[in-house]
Amino acid sequence: MTHVPARPGGRPTTRARLRATLVAAAAGVAALGTTLALAPGASAATTLGASAAQTGRYFGTAVAANKLSDATYVGILNREFTMVTPENEMKWDATEPTQGQFTYANADRIVNHARANGMRVRGHALAWHSQQPGWAQNLSGPALRSAMVNHVTQVATYYRGKIHSWDVVNEAFADGGTGARRDSNLQRTGNDWIEVAFRAARAADPTAKLCYNDYNTDGQNAKSNAVYAMVQDFKARGVPIDCVGFQSHFNSASPVPADYQANLQRFANLGVDVQITELDIEGSGSAQADNYGRVVRACLAVSRCTGITVWGIRDTDSWRASGTPLLFDGSGNKKPAYTATLDALNAGGPTTPPTTTPPPTTPPPSTPPPGGASCTASVSLDSWTGGFVATVRVTAGASAVSGWTVGLTLPAGAAVTNSWNAQPSGTSGSLTFRNLSYNGQLGAGASTTFGFQGTGVGPSATPTCSAS
Ligand code: G3I
Repeated sequence: MTHVPARPGGRPTTRARLRATLVAAAAGVAALGTTLALAPGASAATTLGASAAQTGRYFGTAVAANKLSDATYVGILNREFTMVTPENEMKWDATEPTQGQFTYANADRIVNHARANGMRVRGHALAWHSQQPGWAQNLSGPALRSAMVNHVTQVATYYRGKIHSWDVVNEAFADGGTGARRDSNLQRTGNDWIEVAFRAARAADPTAKLCYNDYNTDGQNAKSNAVYAMVQDFKARGVPIDCVGFQSHFNSASPVPADYQANLQRFANLGVDVQITELDIEGSGSAQADNYGRVVRACLAVSRCTGITVWGIRDTDSWRASGTPLLFDGSGNKKPAYTATLDALNAGGPTTPPTTTPPPTTPPPSTPPPGGASCTASVSLDSWTGGFVATVRVTAGASAVSGWTVGLTLPAGAAVTNSWNAQPSGTSGSLTFRNLSYNGQLGAGASTTFGFQGTGVGPSATPTCSAS
């Protein structure tokens, strides 16, 4: 795949826009096909975060601290998203404006908001040639190297335990066909600066996933090949790297590559998770919507593609607002791109009728069957500091059931923030989750799943299950 390697923000030409529209229209036919696969009568998840969670993924957004006082912005953020990336507040110029003096107030506002609302945080970015404070721009050689290591160490230590993933190094490769490293003051400290940053980050926060993040690496090209070779080399030599972020800033000059999914997959095959980290797609209407659907389907098709983050909430929040590249318009209304994204996420989730495949293992029934309908439930948790996603599997006993209720208790301080495929009785303490209209009936031995997301610590005991 060859495409014009555009620096994020490059303006599209009219012809390129037309070409992208045609490509997108073709993709839209595929999108329709996927949507039609939804089970008849199924009530799909109604928010991006809940729909992504159905397949164990997150759906995130970049957040700017100065917008946390905007009620419309915060309303959408809290309703829709399960991961947050500070857009600028964790960068070197923001966190260490004077050498050795660290300021975290704005980044903390975002981290605290996320944690209070059950969202995870992607740290962005520890080492980058851009947005360096003036004092670092004026350093070179060993002085810059040691300042960089100190910066990585201090920031990752400060946020230790609060970060799901760190963009440890951002945009270290050059555009164009050379596959070379980008020239920068950091690069001139020696070719090993990237692995040194990763080792420092691991030492400072052993619990965070450590990612390399870049743009124009979304399809197979000289730049992504060079990143691929670096990741392969890091894995071979034991340099700590867990994930690769694909920024995915698209427009007509830099469209969604035809081999997007294949490229994500080849990185995943190296033994790293992959994530879409800064998604925005310039355009409008059905063409834009179709492209968003394509991106989501590519991620869902790669099991190690663990989440998608859009680079802002409303078009007016975008770093390239004139391209209207996001999922909500300036007033906070959902755009066709939103609907396409949600539909594509739901098409990958448990939207089909209950299967008749018995689960591999089920705990003994916690509510003995009174000679008739019975069920069991088991819960699997994806937890992080401050939050969790619980996936609950409900399995019918020896007889078919026409309805089920699962009971479980959340530890003190924990609360449900959203749920899917079941009706909860409340948000904290002892809770029941009842089947919805489309998933109450289960054949003998058949199972279905529902889930919920929450703040605090998830449930630990085996849930009860009663059937009718
Ligand atoms: O906060 C100041 C404000 O006080 C001042 O009046 C104004 C005047 O220009 O500037 C404001 O700072 C701007 C900042 O965004 C906050 O809005 C900076 O000038 C501007 O350069 C900065 O742009 C950010 C850009 O990174 C810088 O490289 C964008 O918001 C941010 O979305 C963008 O994000 C990057 C990712 O980190 C890496 N990948 C590409 C992506 C898009 O460029």
